[in-house]
Amino acid sequence: MKDHLVIFDTTLRDGEQSPGASMTRDEKLRIARQLERMRVDVIEAGFAAASNGDFDAVRAIAATIKDSVVCSLARANENDIRRAGEALAPAAAGRIHTFIATSPIHMEKKLRMTPDQVVEQAVKSVVWAREYTSDIEFSAEDAGRSEIDFLCRIFDAVIRAGATTINVPDTVGYNVPEQFAATLRTVIERVPDSDKVIWSVHCHNDLGLAVANSLAAVCAGARQVECTINGLGERAGNAALEEVVMTVRTRRDVFGCDTRIDATQIVPASKLVSGITGFPVQPNKAIVGANAFAHESGIHQDGVLKHRETYEIMRAEDVGWRANRLVLGKHSGRNAFRTRLQELGIPIESEEHLNHAFARFKELADRKHEMFDEDLHALMSEESVTPEDEHFKLASMGFQSETGETPRAWLTLIADGAEHRSEANGSGPVDATFRAIESVAGSGAELLLFSVNSITGGTDAQGEVTVRLSREGRIVNGQGADTDIVVASAKAYINALNKLQSKVERVNPQV
Ligand code: KIV
Ligand code: ZN
Repeated sequence: MKDHLVIFDTTLRDGEQSPGASMTRDEKLRIARQLERMRVDVIEAGFAAASNGDFDAVRAIAATIKDSVVCSLARANENDIRRAGEALAPAAAGRIHTFIATSPIHMEKKLRMTPDQVVEQAVKSVVWAREYTSDIEFSAEDAGRSEIDFLCRIFDAVIRAGATTINVPDTVGYNVPEQFAATLRTVIERVPDSDKVIWSVHCHNDLGLAVANSLAAVCAGARQVECTINGLGERAGNAALEEVVMTVRTRRDVFGCDTRIDATQIVPASKLVSGITGFPVQPNKAIVGANAFAHESGIHQDGVLKHRETYEIMRAEDVGWRANRLVLGKHSGRNAFRTRLQELGIPIESEEHLNHAFARFKELADRKHEMFDEDLHALMSEESVTPEDEHFKLASMGFQSETGETPRAWLTLIADGAEHRSEANGSGPVDATFRAIESVAGSGAELLLFSVNSITGGTDAQGEVTVRLSREGRIVNGQGADTDIVVASAKAYINALNKLQSKVERVNPQV
């Protein structure tokens, strides 16, 4: 359909390739459910051949999602494609997305293959993929720096072999809108049977042009955009889903197409992804930033009060902004708690899981009185940590901080089942707490980032802390939430240590 723009979300694959953004299987499932609720057409669930963990996550998402196509990435080799096909077996609708580099520099220096070999490998890969599904996407990696004649040749060959979506990635974010649009126009014009496939684009944001390039390509005939929530992704990220969707919707007069996205689910999706990955959203970020709809200047405020459209081109509520909705309180019962979790798409594994989460909910509600959706998400994120992932666990902690005195923290940490007590001084209570944890853990990790955000409004809000640690080239993000931000900091640090401890090994598809 010429007026339907397919939204292909790759938060769970390219987004997860951001340093420190790796997610557990359950976290990926929660995001996948939210993407389905938002009515994304295609969810790229991961790269099945990367690790057993990635395979399991793709399979679990394939088994759960019914209203979106579930896709797995696969390099153009038999093993990757078979792993993708097996992981997608339970899907109601599954797509294999295979790719190979086509730019002279990638073919010569990275693949060490001739152009003829690259075409042959691409064709073979599509043929292998056809054993599993008829929905096959082919990507020419680094298309943005590839020769146009070669792109036309390889696209023609893979379409003949059975590819149904042809993706043109600007892998290194090098293109500018006019030039990228010209590339799309040329391949669509020159490749035989180009009207039988969907033309897709996948733009990286190294020059801040990912959304502009994607939209220029839509004007040139692309009908699938690959994007991520909050623009998460390798290096400077991918095109931001929310910006692409709201631009084509707000300016239908220009683009002549629309998506099937339920835009009211955009802000909840943004918050979920930011909470799980620990990548905060900048306040002035379009659509999903905290200030995106805040009018500060008197002239603007006056105009909006008199007639909203004077300064507003979209309505905040149409993209899912609403006052933090009070959902539950300390008198809410187990049933209300269960129902709200179900409405939010948060999985409850067993009655025992529910009982445990409900006990923690009651304890938090005692301190906090009013509980919002965001609080439930944070609480359930902590609940999703399995005992195998909990090498270190905080048993108790305290700290002292007084003007003119050196801050001090003390805590009991359980490491591999044994209790360890420790104390430390620091430049502040958080610093002292981290030192006390390290005196037991001795991880040797470097702290790259420490950030605190308030989950909701008010001084009784939970603080959500993100800690990014690096060790031997591995980067992980840990999260913790609590009404006491020093406790939240300890939880986040321990969560990051536990992630460093886990043996998950994955390969980046582009390496
Ligand atoms: O950026 C890129 O080229 C990719 C491909 C695998 C589509 O992520
Ligand atoms: Zn990419």
